[in-house]
Amino acid sequence: MKNIPVIMVLFGGSGDLAHRKLYPALFNLYEQGLIHDNFAVIGTARRPWSHEFFREQITDAIHETHDEVDENEVKDFASHFYYQSHDVTNVEHYVTLKELAADLDSRYSAQGNRLFYMAMAPRFFGTIATHINDQKLTGSGFNRIVVEKPFGRDLTSAEELNKQITASFEEDEIFRIDHYLGKEMVQNILPLRFSNPLVKNIWNSDDIKNIQVTLAERLGVEARGGYYETSGALRDMVQNHIFQIITLLAMPEPKDISAASIHAAKQELLDSLIIPNAEDVKKHFVRGQYAGSDTTFAYRKEPNVAEDSTTETFAAGEVKFNAGPIAGVPIYFRTGKEFKEKKNRIDIVLKHHNNPYGRAHSNNISIEIDPESKIFFTINGKKISEPGIRRENLTYAFSKEELAQVPDGYERLLHDVFVNDSTNFTHWSELKRYWQFIDAVEAAWQKENEAGNPDIPQYLPYRMGPVEANSIFESPTSHWIYE
Ligand code: BG6
Repeated sequence: MKNIPVIMVLFGGSGDLAHRKLYPALFNLYEQGLIHDNFAVIGTARRPWSHEFFREQITDAIHETHDEVDENEVKDFASHFYYQSHDVTNVEHYVTLKELAADLDSRYSAQGNRLFYMAMAPRFFGTIATHINDQKLTGSGFNRIVVEKPFGRDLTSAEELNKQITASFEEDEIFRIDHYLGKEMVQNILPLRFSNPLVKNIWNSDDIKNIQVTLAERLGVEARGGYYETSGALRDMVQNHIFQIITLLAMPEPKDISAASIHAAKQELLDSLIIPNAEDVKKHFVRGQYAGSDTTFAYRKEPNVAEDSTTETFAAGEVKFNAGPIAGVPIYFRTGKEFKEKKNRIDIVLKHHNNPYGRAHSNNISIEIDPESKIFFTINGKKISEPGIRRENLTYAFSKEELAQVPDGYERLLHDVFVNDSTNFTHWSELKRYWQFIDAVEAAWQKENEAGNPDIPQYLPYRMGPVEANSIFESPTSHWIYE
């Protein structure tokens, strides 16, 4: 791998995301030689840490995520890390940061390349972006910025944030990260669709009855009640992860697999996204909150959550497009906290065709993203010793050894940032469409809240979410395949 010279400035250097995901991912890239002699990382956060203490944190993060490591290598890796205590609103701190980056640049021959990473509370993203511009923190080489989600909380705030960021960065220098796009099975959607005639030839509105995307979590909001109250399932999971998956499922075939062609195909699809009206929301969308049990709190009793909160911990709904290979096909989604199990899964349900054997089951193509990585086709065959049809699965899976080689999503995506590959990042024009859709649903729900007594079912924890979600289908013969 080519060694990329760069000084990385990480806002949120003492945070959980950096510790659990970014430092281990950087270490793996360092071991592979992508970043090696010519890189340094400046971690910034409020806490008054020393460089030494920061390096201990880095070392701990590597040990916590790797079974066997070469201690000399860890030590050498950690020596590339520097810490600056930073108040995001203090101009002087940006000046010091700029000087430190320039110093490190000459020490590590980083060729003026800068990578900024926003990994802290999203309310600071705009302020940081404005200071990067005002204090001219960008370098003389390449400049890139990675922005964590959420990118805004509605279209208006996202537009404002985008304006602040584009004051210093061009669109192709902005990497809006969504860790789902780094997942193995999400990256498998396009090859599955376009490299198999068996799949490609049925990927149309005549053959597909509906598509179902389920992102279910076993955990509740835990200590994140404060953040979650400002977000809810729609903003936390649908605006980003679910929409990214849906886009990959519904987009037309790209001309080739370059970033430009893939984004062009996505945009073509998203231009035809149908924005739901209040009536659609009433019919095809459901929200809910988990109730308590003998041993667990109801969402409304969680710390930092209002007793009369209307924030949804579950959301289900329907997405449709006017164009693309499956124009008009309903794509249903649901996501929620405190489901019976962690399960990220896609089911593509094919239409029944008449056949001489009578009752056959629907053919489904299912893609399991987590916790297992696999694809399986549900198909029909004959029963052995009696008349009738039986159903079996054909499975595409990985061996244990192969699974052990799958890099973490963050490692993949950070790699892509270093090599300047924007395929698996969200372009502004895409994000804008996602927000338009989310804003429409939020507005309809807000209206219901204001009218009093909004319909927010309290669902039993560790089951399948509210039963009301079983009635969002257009066809009376449709139901959730994963149950
Ligand atoms: C994050 C959400 O983006 O995704 C969390 O903010 C959620 O609320 C998480 O738990 C789920 O990610 P994964 O990879 O565990 O499915």
